[in-house]
Amino acid sequence: MALSGAAALCGAAAPPPIPAAESLDALARKKGLRFGTAMPAHALADAGYSALIARECGLIVAENEHKWYVLRPSADRFDFTPADRLGAFAREHGLGLRGHTLLWDRDEYGAKWLPAHDFGPRPRAAAERMLRDHIRTVASRYANQVDSWDVVNEAVDPATGELRATVFGKLLGPELIDICFHEAKAAVPGAKLVYNDYMNFGVEEATHRQGVLKLLEGMKARGAPIDALGVQGHIGGGVDPTPVARFSAADQRDWRAFVDEVRGMGLDLLITEFDVNDRAMPAEIARRDAEVAALAKDFLDLMLDYRELKQVLVWGLADRYSWLQGTAPRADGLPKRPAPYDADLKAKPLREAMAAAFRAAPERRTWA
Ligand code: XIL
Repeated sequence: MALSGAAALCGAAAPPPIPAAESLDALARKKGLRFGTAMPAHALADAGYSALIARECGLIVAENEHKWYVLRPSADRFDFTPADRLGAFAREHGLGLRGHTLLWDRDEYGAKWLPAHDFGPRPRAAAERMLRDHIRTVASRYANQVDSWDVVNEAVDPATGELRATVFGKLLGPELIDICFHEAKAAVPGAKLVYNDYMNFGVEEATHRQGVLKLLEGMKARGAPIDALGVQGHIGGGVDPTPVARFSAADQRDWRAFVDEVRGMGLDLLITEFDVNDRAMPAEIARRDAEVAALAKDFLDLMLDYRELKQVLVWGLADRYSWLQGTAPRADGLPKRPAPYDADLKAKPLREAMAAAFRAAPERRTWA
């Protein structure tokens, strides 16, 4: 549904009034940063939520609509409808659009038909052709709107630190990643090109971090056109088996060492999918929200300290749109509270923690 400003703000689910100059994006901009959120196409029908996004954010990223499994219903057909609707929403509200992702290098999150696809007698060449064609087609279509792309997502296996053995990974070998970045560069020379992954802080994440560093170092050494590392920023232990409620001094030291290596390669940084998984936090809402906010503040303060950090995006602005509701539920079955706004679109302590982190951040040069 298209939003008409005032009408959208009058509904029962209207967000509380936050002055435009105090929106998270306005606070971020004062420091040369941008703030945004992931948005699924089905949220366009939710006037209150759409209005909240329009007033808090400077950019959006399609939650699923740029992924192969949405764009490619079959090997020979593209469906841009949901992605285009999100693009139109962004335009209508003067929001930027990030692209996520030209290749999610995990077969379970790829096109459904891909694992059984017959690549013919010269499978390597055919796979490379399909991949290049996909990247060129998708990136070119949004050339005038998308200013940064997660070219490749989650290619490193956290268990081994090596590249995953996916359909494309097996056919193209280690060259796969460079092929994607070169093709994206050729298609959209002006866009920032990002490698995005969920390596996290904590000792159990060391192999993943090492694997990502190895990948980035190799890319830089070979001259692959990469501009930044996207740190997904799913903290609290969401994707990982272990809940992590604290960012200990040792974890901070190791995480800084990782980030220092990345910036040492001349790469910029983004937080692309921030949220705090409260799966193992106390049931009581005030305590839970306080723990979420405290963990977030520690992580954001550390990250914002780096002037290479150019954007912060959350993976859902309100709890009712968080993907974490459907992953590893809480033992007590209560809904999770990982986002800056609650299910009724009321601002939570996490929103205030993010605003405080932006206010305290050093200024940096805007991402050109
Ligand atoms: C998730 C979406 O939020 C879900 O709706 C979908 O079912 C699966 O993907 N890392 C990523 C994102 O890079 O693309 C994922 O998004 C969340 C984890």
